[in-house]
Amino acid sequence: MTPIGIIVGSGFGHWPLTGGRESAIETPYGAPSSALARVAIGECEVLALARHGRAHTIAPHAVNYRANVWALHAAGVRTCIGVNAVGAIAPGFAPGELAVPDQLIDYTWGRASTFTPDDAPVVHAEFTEPFAPELRGHLAAAAAACGFAVRRGVYGVMQGPRLETAAEIERLARDGCTMVGMTAMPEAILARELGMAYAICAGAVNHAAGRGPGGAAILAEMERHMALTMARISKVIETVVPRLVRSAV
Ligand code: HPA
Repeated sequence: MTPIGIIVGSGFGHWPLTGGRESAIETPYGAPSSALARVAIGECEVLALARHGRAHTIAPHAVNYRANVWALHAAGVRTCIGVNAVGAIAPGFAPGELAVPDQLIDYTWGRASTFTPDDAPVVHAEFTEPFAPELRGHLAAAAAACGFAVRRGVYGVMQGPRLETAAEIERLARDGCTMVGMTAMPEAILARELGMAYAICAGAVNHAAGRGPGGAAILAEMERHMALTMARISKVIETVVPRLVRSAV
């Protein structure tokens, strides 16, 4: 059976990522953020990678995205779910709620975002739909089956690690972004380059800058909503994985 990959982000410390069977993988791009942990979900098993490292020490701009995606692919992963905490931009999108984005806008810079070597012929990856539609459908259906409201939307990927200014969020909203995070890119394009089906289950943990209480309250909001939101996403993953295995996505 080909394993399903899960790249977990902030707030996933409740998953047993250590202590089980793990594979430390080296890649042509260096070491991934963590070893790949085999996590049991019912009868199924997923390969989980901690995007920010086990001790949450790797900031979004410093993640070795190429090593992470390469390691999962080398371990046989062809279907991969990214878990991302996001700030809510769209009106009515509240912390604690889930989203399966169908589009993204990439505002990051300076991240190694292709596997094509600098001296190789230029390759233009097709990226009209940055997230695999079938996998998105499965994630949204699983969230609904868990009783969670789930929205689609446009994920604006910011460089971080700082949070945004209110004017930056205003600009993202004008561009059509409904949520903001820091890690969907280049993860999504690297997965595409390797032919993996990749989609994200995002959870809002705060109102984006200028959309909610503002100031230091944003950090308090994040802290308050992180555990519950990520617990909801774990339920979605526990629901979707057996479905994916059954449907051989
Ligand atoms: N901005 C960027 N990334 C985030 C946020 C945010 O408000 N919340 C969680 N990740």
